[in-house]
Amino acid sequence: MSYLLDKLHNDHKNFAKLLAYIELQLNCIKNCDVVDFETILIAMQYMRDYPDEIHHPLENVIFSYFIEHYDISHEAIKELMHEHEGMPKLTEKIINMLEYVVSETPVNRDEFCEFLTEYLDVQRAHMNSEESEVYPHIYEAMQEDDWKQLQNEIQESNDPLFEQPRDENYRLLLKKITATV
Ligand SMILES: [Fe+2]
Ligand SMILES: [Fe+2]
Repeated sequence: MSYLLDKLHNDHKNFAKLLAYIELQLNCIKNCDVVDFETILIAMQYMRDYPDEIHHPLENVIFSYFIEHYDISHEAIKELMHEHEGMPKLTEKIINMLEYVVSETPVNRDEFCEFLTEYLDVQRAHMNSEESEVYPHIYEAMQEDDWKQLQNEIQESNDPLFEQPRDENYRLLLKKITATV
């Protein structure tokens, strides 16, 4: 059942594409080009709906099990779980700013660019740490029995954007990502 970890690893590849797309939009904002803020808002809503609400909680279940059963008080894992707690707030902050922009309420552009740049940095550093410092240990240590035990605690959900999106907004966003990244 390490396919669960394979799935989370695949999520990271998709998140990287989404972040690259957001970064392209950020560059447009910085260069005062025409910017599709509504699409950035949809991209950030996805960050809330899947990474924050599904992906990280699933990692928390696996990370907690790993620490408990393998007695590895890995500082990196604890730090990552701590970051999971804080991430939804960061996402919400950007979403709120974008909602202001879309509703034509003035937002300080430099401040917005600064927050979004920091957001992209935090997300990428987080994934890099998981991929380089944590996932390899879990792959190596966890056995089939561990994954079977975890099965009861885990409720799997599909990715609403990258796995055959039903929502029209996500369908359009995926097309844009595929065309540009
Ligand atoms: Fe994570
Ligand atoms: Fe992750």
